Amino acid sequence: MITLTKKLPNNLDLIILPVFADQDFVASLKPLVKDAGLLNLVKQDYKNKFGTTYLVYPNTDECQRLLLVGLGKKSLFSQAAWRQAIQTAVSACQNLGVENIGLVLPVIKKPDLASYLELTGFALTFGTYKFTYYKQEDSKEKKKTLENVYVLAKTTAVTLLKALEQGTNIGLAANNARDLANHPGNVATPTHLAAHATKLAKKYRFKIRVLNPAQIKKEGMGLLMGVSAGSDEPPRFIVMEYLPPGKKTLKQSQPIVLVGKGLTFDSGGISIKPSEKLEEMKYDMCGGATVLGIFEAVASMKLPIHLVGLVPASENLLSGKAVKPGDILRSHSGKTVEVINTDAEGRLILADAISYAKKHYDPQLIVDYATLTGAVVVALGSDYTGYFTNRASTFDSTIKQASKQSSELYWPLPLAPSYKDQLKSQTADIKNVAENSHAGSSTAALFLASFVGETPWIHLDIAGTAWNTRPKPHLPAGATGWGVYFTLNFLRQIK
Ligand code: BES
Ligand code: MG
Ligand code: ZN
Repeated sequence: MITLTKKLPNNLDLIILPVFADQDFVASLKPLVKDAGLLNLVKQDYKNKFGTTYLVYPNTDECQRLLLVGLGKKSLFSQAAWRQAIQTAVSACQNLGVENIGLVLPVIKKPDLASYLELTGFALTFGTYKFTYYKQEDSKEKKKTLENVYVLAKTTAVTLLKALEQGTNIGLAANNARDLANHPGNVATPTHLAAHATKLAKKYRFKIRVLNPAQIKKEGMGLLMGVSAGSDEPPRFIVMEYLPPGKKTLKQSQPIVLVGKGLTFDSGGISIKPSEKLEEMKYDMCGGATVLGIFEAVASMKLPIHLVGLVPASENLLSGKAVKPGDILRSHSGKTVEVINTDAEGRLILADAISYAKKHYDPQLIVDYATLTGAVVVALGSDYTGYFTNRASTFDSTIKQASKQSSELYWPLPLAPSYKDQLKSQTADIKNVAENSHAGSSTAALFLASFVGETPWIHLDIAGTAWNTRPKPHLPAGATGWGVYFTLNFLRQIK
């Protein structure tokens, strides 16, 4: 439970006290640490560096522990700094096993207060997430977890309460997306993704249709069928449609269509990947998980938009039935594709989904989320998603705002027309990889662009941001849910 309060209850297990680097933190500590000797020690020892925590045992009625967390310089304070500080502090709380805590809000300008409170709800929820499904019951990690967080603010107006609650809901949706992605490949199969989507649809009452292999084939999705050919797990094509409750008129409107790559394990296929870090390819369905997370958040918040979600779900494995380099597949759009490299499978299943979106809907915008290229990890690392669009002037400012509020970062990359020729095939309409690996993220995006045509489109290559190999103080190892909060902020501006 997260509560907004003007006065913290007594006897809390811990109080989180965020402090600016250029603030006299001793002054804000004084009311909570009455022992002058202890106060002096803290003053001597605490370095007040951004994103680091420091634990104090003040021996008072207010709380058993005080946790200082550095916010950095006041002039540089931002949503990103706040999100990181909270997640760091909460993660330290989880390690301590405390259950009832307080959080002191720093002074925030009034117009920004609701937005910061939403982020607070989000970061508190996101920060307490742990993936422990496969740990034995008695393992230390499962023992104690945060039960109650009291957020201390100067006012507790209804709008602020609402913001805190909405942030919590979005955080829960992001955590569910992380769960889905953290499950191993033998559990999170295409069938499992579809079952999860069906559960969400029942709970939040949005429309869903799951296509089985026969239906996928009948629909003409030769690329999705081709990618799944080498696997014993049947593919699924998940179609979700959300309309706000009671707004039937929107039925005729142009929806925003979200497409998520749901590749539940990518071995590379016949163009097999090396073994190093191959286990991480269970995360190749993070784009699909993000779309499911967005649907959960949108539906739980009852946003007034018309949204369609498409998740092509498949494994990419090898067998006597697998697609081979040189094979030619007929796509849903009718375009034939020469498969040069079976490891460039994400763009294949996305192309069929994009074509499906164009045939069955009249999208005002298609947004796709995909762990598409290793090249984007080389170019941008693990903090920035690769952003491509054929309508920069329409979406750049909305995207920027969405990123600011969610602190999920991106960087624009080019849909360079001059590289298009590299996808020309001798035998088919197009081939799935370029002649060389230069600008690999751009050529992958260009492949998709050739199926998108003139429809407004945003492509987010989340190969670097979707999961974390090494834990950071504010982010555990595993799926990050990148895109759930980002997209919610985007969609709220579009409507
Ligand atoms: N799922 C991978 C991309 C990937 C690689 C994501 C590393 C996260 C970390 C994708 O299906 C893939 O294999 N792409 C190839 C494309 C290449 C064959 C043109 C790649 O990036 O190596
Ligand atoms: Mg691949
Ligand atoms: Zn892949």
